[in-house]
Amino acid sequence: MSTQPSNEPSVTDRHLLSTQAYGTGRHLAARQSLYQWQTPRHDLPGLVVEELARVRGAVADVGCGNGKFVQRIRTQRPDLTVLPMDVSPGILAGIAGAVAADVQQLPIVDRALGAVLAMHMLYHVEDQARAVRELGRVLAKGGIAIASTNSRTDKRELEDLWRRAAGDVLGIPEGPARVQLSARFTLEDAPTILGAVFEDVRTIPLPGVVEVTDPEPVVAHLASYEAWADKMGVPFKETIARARERVEETVQAKGAFRITCLGGILLCSGAH
Ligand SMILES: C[S@@+](CC[C@H](N)C(=O)[O-])C[C@H]1O[C@@H](n2cnc3c(N)ncnc32)[C@H](O)[C@@H]1O
Repeated sequence: MSTQPSNEPSVTDRHLLSTQAYGTGRHLAARQSLYQWQTPRHDLPGLVVEELARVRGAVADVGCGNGKFVQRIRTQRPDLTVLPMDVSPGILAGIAGAVAADVQQLPIVDRALGAVLAMHMLYHVEDQARAVRELGRVLAKGGIAIASTNSRTDKRELEDLWRRAAGDVLGIPEGPARVQLSARFTLEDAPTILGAVFEDVRTIPLPGVVEVTDPEPVVAHLASYEAWADKMGVPFKETIARARERVEETVQAKGAFRITCLGGILLCSGAH
């Protein structure tokens, strides 16, 4: 009872994504906030801006979410035209010029952009091959696509914590794994998927360790999966309450709760 199918259909369920998971930016912000406690801290928007150094013209941020990247690019590269796009209209509130659009069918003419971003979003897309073709199609000659995701080993301690807490609730040694968001597009698999369209795909791994002495950031991260609560095979709130106790116990015994993180950026060029 310990593994979850990696192609869990609810992870790509458009209705669930656009109403519950990303109907607002609330859950995404809770998930992102865990990285405040990571060492080293990686400034992802800053890294993206660096990679855009030679890009001119227009840049689309597809699956832009709460606009973290859009905001930074607009501030640091006012010469670029930034097109924020996301399939969840609710999360776009407050992002100027944002358009509701699906990466599998972008409302952009061929070869129009200097760059396109697909940050932590391709794992939510049903037809990834089609999405990657779209990313290639909209790029002008010499244009770049930048994607990001997590390794299959990312935050393993959080997965263990969930399974043990779920086990406690169910009265068994280990409960079911929680829904794995990035499992459909891991840092390890991404180069092959992107390589179907891009000649050159370079991975920049971004490892780090989160260390907390207060359970709240961990609890907030676990709770950000609320949209998938009924897919977890265990009472969601009770499991989170038990996870909180387990984190407290670890902090008392070891001084901190540690989570090993591995995310990364994929730089793609040479679309064919
Ligand atoms: C994990 S969030 C990432 C947001 C942002 N890119 C970031 O890295 O902070 C995933 C986003 O992708 C969007 N999304 C999911 N499927 C999509 C699709 N087929 N086309 C466009 N956006 C999609 C979701 O609505 C959500 O806002």
